[in-house]
This record gives sequence, C-alpha cells and structure tokens, in this order.
Amino acid sequence: MQYAFMGIEELLARWGQGAQALALLSAAQELSGFLREERDVAAVAAFAGLTTGRAGDVLAALVAHDLAEEVAPGRFRIAPGLAAALADDAPGDLPARIAQATLLTRQTEAAVRTGVVTLSAEDALTVARANAFRPGDGARAVVTKIFEAVPEVAAAMAHGRMLDVGSGVGGFVLTAAGMLPDMRATTLEVVPEVAAVARSRARALGVDDRVDIRVQDARDFDSPDAYDIAFWAQPFFPLPARPATLAMIHRSLRTGGLLLLQQLDTAPAGRAELANFALRRMVAHAQGLPFARPMADLVAEAAPAGFSLIRELDEDFGRMALFSR
Ligand SMILES: C[S@@+](CC[C@H](N)C(=O)[O-])C[C@H]1O[C@@H](n2cnc3c(N)ncnc32)[C@H](O)[C@@H]1O
Repeated sequence: MQYAFMGIEELLARWGQGAQALALLSAAQELSGFLREERDVAAVAAFAGLTTGRAGDVLAALVAHDLAEEVAPGRFRIAPGLAAALADDAPGDLPARIAQATLLTRQTEAAVRTGVVTLSAEDALTVARANAFRPGDGARAVVTKIFEAVPEVAAAMAHGRMLDVGSGVGGFVLTAAGMLPDMRATTLEVVPEVAAVARSRARALGVDDRVDIRVQDARDFDSPDAYDIAFWAQPFFPLPARPATLAMIHRSLRTGGLLLLQQLDTAPAGRAELANFALRRMVAHAQGLPFARPMADLVAEAAPAGFSLIRELDEDFGRMALFSR
C-alpha cells in the first residue's frame, strides 16, 4: 500500500472502514452461522432481534464486504469463503482469529501510549486459540503434511516421548496424539486458563491418558534425558526467558534427541506489507517478544545451548527448523 500518495482524509476513511469492517465481522459471527442456510430478511431480523429495516442494513453491509451473498432477490446466505473458514473441520479457529484482531487494536494503543503490552489470562487464551489447530480433519491434514516433510519427527513422536514447550491449547500436540496411538507427551504451559482448555480438549479427544498437561514455567521443568523430541513455540517466548528455556529443552532431551521450532512471521520482501508488519512488530516488541526472528538468528540462538541444525523447512504450512541435541 502506497500511503504516501493518499491524503489524510482518504487514509482516515480507509482505516476507519477497516476498523468498522472488523467490528462487523466480530459482531455478526452468530448471524453468519444462521446464514449457513439461505434466509430472507424477516428471518434474519427475527434471529438478530432487529427490525427488518436494520437487518436489511446489516445484510447489505455483509454483502458489500463479501461476507454474505444475495443468492436471489431478498434471500441471503453466508459467503462460501467465510462458511469454509467457520466449518467444524476447518484447521484454524476463525472466531479466535477475529478476537485476536480486535485484541491487536487494543494492544496497539497500549504500545504507543506506554511501550508495554501485557496479556491478561483472557488475552493469553485468545492468542493461544488463534494460533492453534482446532481438532478435526483439517488439522489432521496439516499435521500429516508436517510429518511427510519431517519424517524423523513423525517417527520420534510415534514411538517416543515428546515435550511440547509453550503448548497453548495444544493444537499440534493433541492433533498428533489423536493420530499416533502410541505417542506420549508432556506439555508445558504457564497460563492456567490456557492449559485448562488443552486439558478439556485432550479429554474430548480421548488422549488425556497419554498427554500429561502441566501448568508451569517451562524454565522450571526438570526431567533430564527423558524425551526424544521437543517442539518449542519460540515466537511466544519473551527474550529474558529464552536462554533458560533452551537450556531446559537441552537437558530434557536424550542425546541425539530432536528439537523442532517454528517461525511464524518473516520480514516482508516489499513495501506493500510493511505497514502491517511494523504494527505487529511494535506490539510484539512491547511484550518483550522477538518478532520475526530470522532463521539464521534462531540457529545462532540455539547453537550455544548445544543444538545443531539438521535442516530448515519452508513449506506451505510454514517455516520450521529441525535441530539435534
Ligand atoms: C500460542 S501457544 C503456541 C501454540 C501451540 N504450540 C499449539 O500447537 O497450539 C504458546 C504458549 O506459550 C506460552 N508460554 C510463553 N512463555 C512460557 C513459559 N516461560 N513457560 C511455559 N509456557 C510459556 C504462552 O502462554 C502461550 O500460550
């Protein structure tokens, strides 16, 4: 986006509309579910508790933003893209992504005003949900791709013990445990409310006897030489916690054990994505997080802790690096 060529009035209109569109999407989530079936304005009005006039306005706004379609005069349905993203077997949690986008606007203000962004337990849960697979076929399809890309990871998880460091609501570890009947894992999550959701998901999936969900700071975990593979959600670990976390992972793995880590964001190649990148980096840095740390820096960070790089992966499901102890 070339903001330099727009006047301030045009910028304001554009950004204000973006904020309104996010509020529309956020507030219309239940309505979107109702619109999975074709409905007329009167039915939408009754569902939403609005007059037909106001329901018509909401539908017009949804259609204008490609969130709904007018399939026949006066008859509306959710847009196919939104329907797919809200489907029960979608790999991602769209409501959580929407909540995270709303959270980002609040965090942006805090970052500008104070330079410090702190997460409440509720915020941490929003972030954890937004960055996790939802259990289901979509998630299993992505995990299958990951296993194909790193077969040694699949083998270590299938028959060994896994340590999931910064497990959030357990998107990856619980999906994998559902696919690998002999897999055993320990998960470490510092926010109790987040770990509680992982626990109830583990019970619902019937893997709670094989996945030990711990509420603790990863740095304090002490179980030497016990694990074959570790997965570290490194983008969510603030700078001061990282050396002790890597040291813990090193002592927890057996010799030759594997460490897989993910890289969520990368610096944009062009000017076009820089505005979004700069905002998200500002918020991440105000939380003490290392935003978009380049792979080479991650490798340099892991080396002093005793890890050597096996290989880097840049696949459609994301960037990862595999190390051995
Ligand atoms: C967003 S989750 C990552 C997603 C997860 N890997 C999945 O597959 O669903 C990262 C989590 O790391 C947790 N975390 C950050 N620092 C931590 C620490 N020192 N010890 C334990 N957990 C930590 C955060 O609370 C957050 O919930």
